[in-house]
Formats: sequence, structure tokens, C-alpha cells
Amino acid sequence: MDQIFNFYKRDKGKVVPVIHTKAQFKKIQKIIDKIIEDNIDLIPKKILKKRKEIKLYQPDGIIDKADSLMINPEEGAFTIKNKLNELTGKEWTKFISSWFIFNAVRSDIKEEKKITEKFNLNADEHPATYSPTMISNFISFFTKSNQKVIDPFAGIGTTLVACDRTKRKGVGIELNKKYFKISQARTKQKVINGNSLDIDKILKKK
Ligand SMILES: C[S@@+](CC[C@H](N)C(=O)[O-])C[C@H]1O[C@@H](n2cnc3c(N)ncnc32)[C@H](O)[C@@H]1O
Repeated sequence: MDQIFNFYKRDKGKVVPVIHTKAQFKKIQKIIDKIIEDNIDLIPKKILKKRKEIKLYQPDGIIDKADSLMINPEEGAFTIKNKLNELTGKEWTKFISSWFIFNAVRSDIKEEKKITEKFNLNADEHPATYSPTMISNFISFFTKSNQKVIDPFAGIGTTLVACDRTKRKGVGIELNKKYFKISQARTKQKVINGNSLDIDKILKKK
């Protein structure tokens, strides 16, 4: 019968299973359960959802030093030392590379075109739009699910659309009534038509 592995390490740049006995398998399972129990609020839901598939990871293969959980070795492991976001080490490293080229996603361009046309807004009128996909990457790096994201210059709501997609709680403030209306039509998040110079008062009221 095939052996089931619940402990992985890094070897020659690859994440590989560590061969273990049945007794070690049980010990590892107990460590996984304890890590989950002690850090339940910290561990991403996408990992907890697949609880039975969770594996332990430690780069050197030292069980007692392990503090990372993993579902799929290809996607990398999430360490409980990560208090900032819900990314695995591999995803984190990919994001912090010092430069990147972002190719606008066709479906994003289509969606923006549809909404701006509906409100009779042409590109010259609002030239500084961004792609929700790119903003989603930043939001996923700097926050966890359900955390608040405030955009004091919401424009036509790109950040708020990214909040919808990443399951964050977004609040946008936009001075221009037309842009505010587009944002409102585009997202489920809270949008306020106001001046961010009054941000203290605005956020206290809401
Ligand atoms: C660069 S655009 C934002 C674009 C937005 N990220 C998007 O992709 O749709 C900047 C926006 O800030 C708004 N703005 C400028 N000053 C503001 C203020 N004091 N309070 C609220 N909004 C303001 C402008 O009306 C403009 O829509």
C-alpha cells in the first residue's frame, strides 16, 4: 500500500516528503493539531477548509522545529510566524521580487469598459485607472481576509472591486460625484461621496 506522508522538507530546491514510521506519523499529526489549535485565528481559511489534507513542513526536516502548514507542496507552506497576510512562503517570495511586469487582464478591461460606457465616461475624463487584478495582489500581500482596506481616493472603485475579489472589507471615499456613482454601481463595498481631508469625521460617522 502507498505510504501517506504528512511531513515535508526541502531538498535540492524541491519540497519532498520525509519517510516516516507509523508512530512518527501519529506524532506529526499531533503537532499539526496543536499548531492549528493554538493559531486558529491566524491560519488561512483555505488551509483550514482542507484540514484532513494538512501537512507539516520544516525546510531541514526537523519535526520539533516545524511551524509551517501546507496543503499542496507546489503552492508552498504557510508559517504561523506570518502575521501580515495569508500567503505561503513561495507566494510571498514571488510578490517581493523588486520589479514586475503586469499585463492587463482582458476580462478586467472589458468590465471597466462596460461600466464606464454605461455612465458615459470616456478614458480622457478618467485616465488614471488600475487593474483590479493588480490591486488584488497588493491587498493580498498587505492584509488578511476580512480585514479593512480604506481607499481615500477611490476614483471609479478599482480598489473596492479588488476588495470584493479578495474578501476584504473595503471603504472608499471619492470627491467626484460621477466617479462615486460608478464605484457604487461596481462594488458591494462601502463608498462615500466626500472629501478625504475630512476622513476623521467621515469614518467616525460610518
Ligand atoms: C487616481 S484617481 C483614483 C483611481 C482609482 N484608484 C481607480 O482605479 O479608479 C484619484 C481620485 O482621487 C479623487 N480625489 C482627489 N482628491 C480627493 C479628496 N480630497 N477626497 C476624495 N477624493 C479625492 C479624484 O477625484 C480621483 O478620482
